[in-house]
Amino acid sequence: MTQPLLFQPLALRSVTLPNRVSVAPMCQYSAKDGIAQDWHLQHYGALAASGPGLVVMEATGVSPEGRISPHCLGLYNDATEAALTRLVKALKSFGGGGAIATQLAHAGRKGGAATPWEGGKFSKDGWPTISASNIPFDTDWPAPAAASTEDLARLKACFVEAARRSLRVGFDLIELHSAHGYLLHQFLSPLSNRRNDGYGGSLDNRMRFPLEVVEAVRAAWPADKPMGIRISTSDWAEGGWTVDESVIYAKAFAAAGIDYVCVSSGGLVPYAKIPFAAGYQIPFARRVREACGIPTRAVGLIASPQQAEATLAEGSADMIAVGRGFLDNPRWVWHAAEALGADMSYPPQYLAVRGKIWPGAAIARPQAAE
Ligand SMILES: Cc1cc2nc3c(=O)[nH]c(=O)nc-3n(C[C@H](O)[C@H](O)[C@H](O)COP(=O)(O)O)c2cc1C
Repeated sequence: MTQPLLFQPLALRSVTLPNRVSVAPMCQYSAKDGIAQDWHLQHYGALAASGPGLVVMEATGVSPEGRISPHCLGLYNDATEAALTRLVKALKSFGGGGAIATQLAHAGRKGGAATPWEGGKFSKDGWPTISASNIPFDTDWPAPAAASTEDLARLKACFVEAARRSLRVGFDLIELHSAHGYLLHQFLSPLSNRRNDGYGGSLDNRMRFPLEVVEAVRAAWPADKPMGIRISTSDWAEGGWTVDESVIYAKAFAAAGIDYVCVSSGGLVPYAKIPFAAGYQIPFARRVREACGIPTRAVGLIASPQQAEATLAEGSADMIAVGRGFLDNPRWVWHAAEALGADMSYPPQYLAVRGKIWPGAAIARPQAAE
């Protein structure tokens, strides 16, 4: 049987993803002192057991002040490493068969935020932040310190140390967070980077620190293991980072050993005008894919299996990331397989609902019934 494109495997170095569906990284704001809790086990457990080719865990701070919020995951000391080691070992025992990735991140000037359900502004438990320049994220956010050369060396070392810990944890893959207005993106965009040293000004200079991080992490991460990156292709704001610049950036990080890019947008400035609509970022993924030839993951309001399959079929991407669709329905992949007529393996405990075995499927999802 020929599988739909969404259910064809994808080889990235020594790791073969069993299908092209990825759980998009999504902060859970449920860690304590950076340490994963029971919430993470039930959340990622249900997702990993449901068979996506790749589960990318939420943005994980490479240092305490690199976390987005005081409740975000970290990977910067033995306690955070031990909790993630237990978690990843459990996820791999659940039979979903997909790869598990960490998203290594530093929030820069957006660090120390309150959770979305507390309003998402700068938290009363926040901390002094650091960025490319001392420009705050918003008028009611504190100004970050502009990173000194010593700070840059220290920040890079944090990413490298987190990569070493990721290997011990047992992650299959590292995804670097260079999107959504966090530290690496703050260096890329002229709206947040006003430096006049070798790390600011020209595009080459603005890309310098993110590329140094890419190279340092790549050198610390085994050569047979894949490494991806997430970028924002547009700030959706006048004078900001652009798709053309993203293409140049993508060529540079592909040459530095990045194996795939997840193409997102926005997050740098609160006043961005983002035209949210079904699949609104897919044209950016196509542009980067065509210009660079690097495997590309499309994301953003891709919520139906048919839309995901069509995105692959038209050559816009090699993988699809689904975010809120998985919060709504952790079994998104099973239902996609059902809708597209694909074959996939289930954990034995749940074989009773596979394919058409469960007559209740036709009652629960009449639109999917033949
Ligand atoms: C609750 C929540 C948390 C998120 N956290 C992250 C994150 O940690 N890292 C990241 O790169 N994107 C994050 N995102 C963005 C998602 O990965 C994704 O790009 C976005 O939700 C659009 O995809 P969707 O329409 O399928 O949800 C988050 C989104 C949501 C809804």
